[in-house]
Amino acid sequence: MHAINVFSPDFDVDDCLAEIRTCLERGWTGMGFKTDEFEAAFCQYAGLDHAHFLSSATAGLHLALEVLKRADGWADGDEVITTALTFVSTNHAILHAGLTPVFCDVDAMLCLDPDAIERAITPRTRAVMFVGLGGNAGQWDRVVALCRRHGLRLVLDAAHQSGTRLNGQAPARDADAAVFSFHAVKNLGTADGGMICLPDAKLDAAARRLSWLGIDKTTFERTAASGTYQWRYDVPEVGFKYHGNSVMAAIGLVQLRRLERDNAERRRLAGLYDARLAPVGGIDRVPMAAQCTPSRHLYQVEVADRDLVLDRLRGMNIHPGVHYQLNTRFAPYDRFSASLPRAEQASDQLLSLPLHVKMTDGDVQVVCDALADAVALPMAA
Ligand SMILES: Cc1ncc(COP(=O)(O)O)c(C=O)c1O
Repeated sequence: MHAINVFSPDFDVDDCLAEIRTCLERGWTGMGFKTDEFEAAFCQYAGLDHAHFLSSATAGLHLALEVLKRADGWADGDEVITTALTFVSTNHAILHAGLTPVFCDVDAMLCLDPDAIERAITPRTRAVMFVGLGGNAGQWDRVVALCRRHGLRLVLDAAHQSGTRLNGQAPARDADAAVFSFHAVKNLGTADGGMICLPDAKLDAAARRLSWLGIDKTTFERTAASGTYQWRYDVPEVGFKYHGNSVMAAIGLVQLRRLERDNAERRRLAGLYDARLAPVGGIDRVPMAAQCTPSRHLYQVEVADRDLVLDRLRGMNIHPGVHYQLNTRFAPYDRFSASLPRAEQASDQLLSLPLHVKMTDGDVQVVCDALADAVALPMAA
């Protein structure tokens, strides 16, 4: 029986190599050229005004908070409402920016619960960090409305949301900042990369400067304008080295072209999982939001005795993932821990079933049969 892994990246190899070749032949592999092309293509695809290609979403989430903090004059220690059921990048960004994470519980879709957000708002709350887990939109419209009502900035961790639509549009369009991930195993995967999308032109310009060490002109701009290298620039503030490069953007461009097709296939496979798992007792499928056409980066279920079920599946050469361990269980977040009953339960019971475009319908059947067997066997004494 071949191994069935949670992720398995797929690339149009010749097309990727052809795009990379244009960078090598032109002698431009850094920021500019392909990164400009990828940014424009991504804006057009997602219906966004600005997009800036970065080395990762981790960098982008930190950058988003830095840009907003500097623009709005937030103080160190000001609060950002966030989820603990996420990859640590989401919350590391808050700490990196010198802000305080305030953890709130999630809803049935495992996204931040708007009622819990509302209860957690204090005079020091400046922003909400919303994670579209697995490509879900959760109760996004309610979160947008409550942020507007309370004058809070809304940052969308859209790491899993490449191609997600809510009522036909990218949820990112309603965020003050949205950050996508093109990490190797994401549904739009490169080797590493991210995109920060800021609707405000001034904030977009600030993000571009801060992602390039605070320098006011990129090397590409300085060179492309005259065709010769121009050395002079200014550094009005201290920034970070967070921008992306043309080689990664070349792969991103090719992956973007197939994103709609890939996501449709993910949704089709998810539909097969739904149909086959619905009648099986002991398996709770995480619902997607109504009106949401998800990217389906993940297909998540909850089971009792998750670790044992995982062991049993591994014994059958099936290798699901766990997204995620509760961040408040990690040392840096100890002192911010809060009562999060739903997120805690999910963290103990969740597993992400294999879902990628190389899977066959037969693979889905094998996983479903194995999972049904694994939950039906007696649990350990
Ligand atoms: C929810 C979430 N946020 C942020 C990130 C960080 O993305 P990157 O690997 O591009 O830095 C990830 C990646 O795993 C993620 O899953």
